[in-house]
Amino acid sequence: MTDTPEIAAELRRRLAHAHAPYSGVQVAAAVESEDGRVTYGVNVENAAYPLGQCAEASAIGAAVTEGPTRLTRVYVASSLPGLVWPCGGCRQKIFELAAEGCEVVSLGADGEVGRQTIEQLLPLGFRLEPRAGRRV
Ligand code: THU
Repeated sequence: MTDTPEIAAELRRRLAHAHAPYSGVQVAAAVESEDGRVTYGVNVENAAYPLGQCAEASAIGAAVTEGPTRLTRVYVASSLPGLVWPCGGCRQKIFELAAEGCEVVSLGADGEVGRQTIEQLLPLGFRLEPRAGRRV
């Protein structure tokens, strides 16, 4: 397992990279892949509000870009007090690529840590079998 305090420090540092001029809420996420790779992302808002992208989606996109990815852990930190958990849409994005037992770790500014499996956050998530002959 990757060192959680080290990732927490990286996420805190990267909150400043978030593009969040509309909500003012900065979010940073990291995804750990089965091979141990850790990939980061931040939220990227847009003047056309619905086009904004969550930090988790940014991190997942970056991880997939690097190569085959099964997620073992997802970390989230924000500029808000307390713990934040992925929105419904991001839960489904995590679910899509989750390895068995994939855990979401929420990291608060004060050192508070919350852990939930993706199955706890998204029971009965939607899944489709990949079509025959298609790469996953
Ligand atoms: N946001 C994330 O990036 N991840 C979450 O888990 C919750 C919300 C972003 C979306 C938007 O840019 C801002 O936080 C306020 O909703």
